[in-house]
Amino acid sequence: MSVIELKNINKYFGKDTAQVHVLRDLNFTAEKGKLILILGPSGSGKSTFLTIAGGLQSADSGQVMINDKDISAFSAKERDNLRLNQIGFILQAYNLVPYLTVAEQFTLVDKIKKVNNLSKEALNQLLIK
Ligand SMILES: Nc1ncnc2c1ncn2[C@@H]1O[C@H](COP(=O)(O)OP(=O)(O)O)[C@@H](O)[C@H]1O
Ligand SMILES: [Mg+2]
Repeated sequence: MSVIELKNINKYFGKDTAQVHVLRDLNFTAEKGKLILILGPSGSGKSTFLTIAGGLQSADSGQVMINDKDISAFSAKERDNLRLNQIGFILQAYNLVPYLTVAEQFTLVDKIKKVNNLSKEALNQLLIK
């Protein structure tokens, strides 16, 4: 079963003569349980590809399917919801809330998302290690 599928994705940045065509008719499929490495030189479009696959930004054309659902036309709010519940994204900068402790970061998630979170017991176990 494919959990992430990108079909004929195109992404441009800039305008007119300064326009860069970063992703050109890109097709990609990730099967459940597979570990995939995206490799390429700096500026080749890895982050653009990953942020589109992860619902952080949209493509200019093409389709993005997550768990067989087309998210291409999702609003920013719908994409936020998707990232909260279905797809995890760890950036190079981890974007945690700087003034919260590790335990408080988890409490914050519990406030926003009510189900399928780490239990208090499991979190306490991890904090001890
Ligand atoms: N928000 C943006 N605005 C303008 N150009 C961008 C933006 N994001 C990426 N680019 C350009 O798109 C190309 C691919 O960038 P990126 O996806 O970050 O590559 P990589 O992650 O492989 O280093 C680069 O030429 C970069 O300058
Ligand atoms: Mg990058």
